Amino acid sequence: MAAETSTDALVATGVRTYVPNYAPKPVVFDHGEGARLWDIDGREYIDLGTGISVNSFGHRHPDLIAAVTGQAGRLLHTSNLYYVEPTVRLAEDLVDGTFAERVFFCNSGAEANEAAIKIVRRRAAEAGRGPEEREIITFEGSFHGRTLATVTATAQPKYHEGFEPMPGGFTYCPFNDPEALEAAISDRTCAVMLEPVQGEGGVTPSRQGFLRHVQDLCRRHDALLVLDEIQSGMGRTGKFFAYEWEPGVEPDVVTMAKALAGGLPMGAVLAGARAADALSVGTHGSTFGGNPVSAAAARVAVGLARSDDLLANVVRQGDAFRLFLNRINAELGLFRDVRGKGLMIGAELGEAHEGKAGALVDACQEEGVIVLVAGPSVLRLLPPLNIGDEDVRDATAGMERAFRAFAAS
Ligand SMILES: Cc1ncc(COP(=O)(O)O)c(C=O)c1O
Repeated sequence: MAAETSTDALVATGVRTYVPNYAPKPVVFDHGEGARLWDIDGREYIDLGTGISVNSFGHRHPDLIAAVTGQAGRLLHTSNLYYVEPTVRLAEDLVDGTFAERVFFCNSGAEANEAAIKIVRRRAAEAGRGPEEREIITFEGSFHGRTLATVTATAQPKYHEGFEPMPGGFTYCPFNDPEALEAAISDRTCAVMLEPVQGEGGVTPSRQGFLRHVQDLCRRHDALLVLDEIQSGMGRTGKFFAYEWEPGVEPDVVTMAKALAGGLPMGAVLAGARAADALSVGTHGSTFGGNPVSAAAARVAVGLARSDDLLANVVRQGDAFRLFLNRINAELGLFRDVRGKGLMIGAELGEAHEGKAGALVDACQEEGVIVLVAGPSVLRLLPPLNIGDEDVRDATAGMERAFRAFAAS
């Protein structure tokens, strides 16, 4: 007998068989097109979540499909024992188009940050610094991944509970507080790592000038500046990298993942002059790193994310979403703050609705709009970067209905 494929049956099977570390919503998506998604019951949604900033160029982008199917028909995998053209070309694109001198490929954001941590420590070791002189400073509210080292870098205790003992050598500072960093950093610090716009922690942009301040302190103490652009990069804020909004910032290491391959798994560490040669043969690796199918997709995605038209659209539609949120908020008073950059947008619920961002997400889904949370009290929008006016109009109309129902409940 064929297995039942109704939503209820699939959800029940998922609930029974998945390790219960996620809490997926009881919806089964079937296909997408641009900014739209359809579930297996034929219901249409507007996708302002993009799989947490992965499907940044919309669903079923023809150039991505062509690159993926073309490469899948030639060669799926070879390992890093050999060269393959899509991966070599992608590395060339990234080195030629950014500050980087070299690139390391992996499969996810956590792996990219894990590799960055190893790079900065190894560089310090090569310079004769002992283990106690390889401290890494990160910031409260950050999110850098779920492996043991990256979750330790994630300065939010709720992610550590029950996983102790945590790896050592991490120090936490308040975000956007130059004096606190100045007090914490020393010659024992080998790197400072931060997101130019904190994502999971609540969509909090770094204040103008903060990145430069961090950079100056890093230079003073021979520490490397590591920017986690996993969520904020690939055009999400209206620049290829979010750090480009602040003049004069020259990172030593930048980590990428999420939208890098437009929907396929891929991570990358971009290493500038001070970091490029820290890893020698045998010091790090990943079987799937630089997979040619992901690399073929990433070449397309990187090209799309560099387009001036696309970046202008990000700024314009980001302003449209923020205008909508501020307008509706002036009437309903749901939010204490609407913030973000480009199409990385957060709206923090006020006191009366604290902790209820999940309920607001459900209300939006009822109205056919997929949105996200960033912590218990922040609604997060990460729409496709090429979203058009009609999709924005329909999405804001759906959200408005949802906000009114939520405010009245
Ligand atoms: C800024 C940032 N860094 C790292 C990660 C971890 O990425 P991944 O889930 O691919 O391991 C995330 C994921 O949300 C992120 O937003």
